[in-house]
Formats: sequence, C-alpha cells, structure tokens
Amino acid sequence: MNKDLISNDIQLDSSGKLIHLLGLEGLSKNHLTHILDVADGLLDAQGNLKKSKALDDMSVANLFFESSTRTRNTFEIAGKRTSANIINVDLANSATKKNESLLDTIHTLKAMQIDMFVIRHKQSGLPHHVAENIDGVSILNAGDGINAHPTQALLDMLTIRQHKQSFEDLSIAIVGDITHSRVAHSDIQALKTLGASDIRLIAPAGLQCDSKQCATIKCFDNIEEGIKNCDVVMVLRLQKERMLEADIPNEQEYFDNYGLTPERLALAKSDAIVMHPGPINRGVEIDSSVANGKQSVILQQVSNGIAVRMAVMEILAGNS
Ligand code: NCD
Repeated sequence: MNKDLISNDIQLDSSGKLIHLLGLEGLSKNHLTHILDVADGLLDAQGNLKKSKALDDMSVANLFFESSTRTRNTFEIAGKRTSANIINVDLANSATKKNESLLDTIHTLKAMQIDMFVIRHKQSGLPHHVAENIDGVSILNAGDGINAHPTQALLDMLTIRQHKQSFEDLSIAIVGDITHSRVAHSDIQALKTLGASDIRLIAPAGLQCDSKQCATIKCFDNIEEGIKNCDVVMVLRLQKERMLEADIPNEQEYFDNYGLTPERLALAKSDAIVMHPGPINRGVEIDSSVANGKQSVILQQVSNGIAVRMAVMEILAGNS
C-alpha cells in the first residue's frame, strides 16, 4: 500500500488516549513528550534501567515476520522488565505455514489471553489492518514495510534529547537510503512534531524521499553540503532487500560518494552525534572508525530501545 494513504487514526480512542502504536503521524507533541518522559523515568541517575510491575498479569506476543536483532530482543527484554509474560511466536513452525491467515493466527493467540501484539511485517499497513480487525488488544508496529517504525523513532528522539538541549534549534541530517527506510519516515515525523525546523535529507536521486511527507524538507545529493554544521547525523543502511537487483548501487561507489567518513563528519559541528538504527554495514554507509568513534551513540540507541518500549507498553496498558 502507498504509505501516504495509510492512516493511524484508530490508534487513539475518542478521548485521545493511545490504544495502539501504529505510527507517529497523528500523535501530538504532548503524546511524544509523554512517551519520552515515561522512558526517562525508567532510567536512574546512572542511566540504568529500572524494573516495573506495570504489565503484571498481562501477556505480550512478539510476531516478527522479518529478521530482527535489536527490535525483537529489546521488545522481549522490555516486556520482561515490565513484568509481562512475553512469548516469541515461532513463525517458522506456526500454522501460518499451513496457510492459516494472519488474522486467524492472531485471533487464536488472543484466545490464549494475549493482550498486546508486537508485529513486524514486510507489508506496509499490515499492523493497521490487524488493529482494524481485532478488538480488545493493543497492536504495536515494530516496522511495516517501508511505512513506519515508530518505536525506533522514539528511541532516536530519546537519544537526541539526552545529548542536545532542544529540538527547535537542531540541524539534523539523515543520510542514505531514505526511499526504503521506514525509520527515516518515522524519524522525520517525530522531528517535525517535536519542532525541529532544519531537517536535511542527503541521498542520491534514486534513494531520496519520494513521499509527500518530504515536500517541505531540504534535500541534498551532496553529502559535504548537506552535513555542514549539523548537530545530528543519522546514517541509514542500503536496504537492498527492498530494491530491484538493477537498482542496487555499487557499494564502493556508494561509500565514495555518501559514506560517513571522519573527513565528512568533521564538516558537522564538533559536538555532533552520529546515529544509526542498525544493522550497520561498515565500509558501505559508514566508516568503521566513525561507527566506533567518540561521537557515535549507536549502542546508546540500542539501550534506549528498552526504556522506550517499556514506556510504550506501560502507556498502552493504561499504567503510565
Ligand atoms: C531497521 C529496520 O528494520 O527498519 N532496523 C531496526 O529496526 N533497528 C533499519 C534497517 O533494517 O536498516
């Protein structure tokens, strides 16, 4: 489905309370700030995660139809730290392999007293379709096709907030395969909602943002120009699994033209932070020394994923 046509309307009830998390379009600055504040409250002064009882007696099912390391595992850890029962549904051996429809599988799991479903799927809009067709449970979008990845954007915003004073004054560059990146789409939405006015998208023509969301955003095809004086540089992987064979760029050429090297990073502000949702491909979109360098907050993003996912689950459970 064209991502411009996917609506998140059903994620709020009539009083504006979050009942699913499908995407960030339609959520207010207050909604986003509340999620980030709850996540912050789950970290102690040393940045260590607290535990909570918010989902005691509740059950959460992880349904990952695409591969994942960070998102799936941090959802699992977040579920356990909020005292939920969490199950990772073994999709390779489930009845979906016997042609059971996804909705039937979900209704079956609901009959096992599952309260929340975390869904990652290659089809844009799939979590929305599930949310429309099943009552009494919460759906959390863990990445749908090229559409959205709301918890990734929220953990990115938490990470930025930990390093920078306010979103209003920031210059943020997003570099790489924007066309196929659900992360970029959710990050752009989150940044706009939180008030960032200088968002720059850096990509070769074939990988630049092609949705109406980007109509008012500055686009660059030259990384040296786009990165100048930025406070935040977000790097994206070439998502080859979503490209036609013929459109896959040559990796060396791509690195030569768009790879984040120490020389290019030096054009950003000296205290700029480097972010990447992972998985990183060293020597393709980012130089290894930059990924490991002192400006990199890539692993902090991973850790923040737990607090943000705990916060979202607590809010959906009505306990924060
Ligand atoms: C991203 C995803 O799956 O959208 N990864 C993630 O969840 N951390 C980005 C990617 O796959 O490149």
